[in-house]
Amino acid sequence: MAKRIYDDRNAQDPQRFILCVHRDRSVLEDLRIDLEAIAPAEYRILPVDSPTRGLEIIHDLESQGDQVDIVISDMGASDFPGYRFLEIVNQRFPHVRKILLTSGDEDDAAVYSINTSDLDRCLRQPVSKEDFRLTIESLLRLCRLRADNEDLLVALRGRNVQLLEMLGSLRQAHTEIEQSYLQTIQALAKALDAKDAYTAGHSGRVSRFAYLLARRMGLSREICEDVRDGALMHDIGKIGVPEAVLLKPGRMTEDEIKLMQMHPVIGAQILEPVEPLRRYIPSVKYHHERWDGKGYPDGLKAEKIPVEARITLIADTFDAITSDRPYRSAKPLDLAIDQFSKFAGMQFDPECVRVFLEILKEDPPGLACKAEA
Ligand SMILES: [Fe+2]
Repeated sequence: MAKRIYDDRNAQDPQRFILCVHRDRSVLEDLRIDLEAIAPAEYRILPVDSPTRGLEIIHDLESQGDQVDIVISDMGASDFPGYRFLEIVNQRFPHVRKILLTSGDEDDAAVYSINTSDLDRCLRQPVSKEDFRLTIESLLRLCRLRADNEDLLVALRGRNVQLLEMLGSLRQAHTEIEQSYLQTIQALAKALDAKDAYTAGHSGRVSRFAYLLARRMGLSREICEDVRDGALMHDIGKIGVPEAVLLKPGRMTEDEIKLMQMHPVIGAQILEPVEPLRRYIPSVKYHHERWDGKGYPDGLKAEKIPVEARITLIADTFDAITSDRPYRSAKPLDLAIDQFSKFAGMQFDPECVRVFLEILKEDPPGLACKAEA
């Protein structure tokens, strides 16, 4: 470490200074002796007889990170008066406490100094030792208070940086957990598709169609993404339906239909305990509700049905029509258009149908390709 200026002690020690500027060297010496008796041991007293030298010293000390807490000045020489010196100190180093020592014929200059230099004290010479001691002790307490506040501020900033770092780590962990949950659900959706060779890829296609429709409807990015991911897991509750029912090729009994119709509620129960997945419950629980209120599980009607579910129903139905099924092969797009037109306002939200038909009519090959994907 470079040698510090005006320092004959260990450079690790606190470096705090009191600077005295006085034209009379014998007064300077008295000031030094008095100040060394009053100030705590960590202070060094610097007596100089020139305001110019005084400014150099303050500049040097502040540049190397040390602190001049108090400057005491008399009126100084006529070519560089003390009031001008204190005015410059106030402009360049506003944190320094300032004491002006005046004599009997210097009242005008003292008033000027009070008005321009933010003086802390103005003492008339000769100053009694008791007044001087009380003044210095009072200003040193203010300096200590300021130093303590600065230390506190530095500590607070440090804690703030630590807290921000911790917050960043928590956010990262939260995102990773959400991703992990989503990957788990995606894996479950794939496992479900794999149970039935005829519906392989169904969840992925429904997710893509639902996302296209949500985007076209002008929904917010957040809702579009919820629609996309919710549609991916819309039939996740079928995990809880016995395979004998789920994969039954023939006609189902009434009890089997009831079991099958429990899959939206079972799906919601799977998602419910995991907070980041709860936002997909509207898609999962209500994707078999009908616009006319004749759907299940709750018989919700029209706009009481969450928009995510109304969109998922369209995407689900479209894929069911245009994909092969155990009991029939895929139907053409024209049949899908006919079905949506026929059942808009009954099974389907008419506005969702209108927008979806727009997509089908404008870009049937694109959607057909996606259907085959
Ligand atoms: Fe379903």
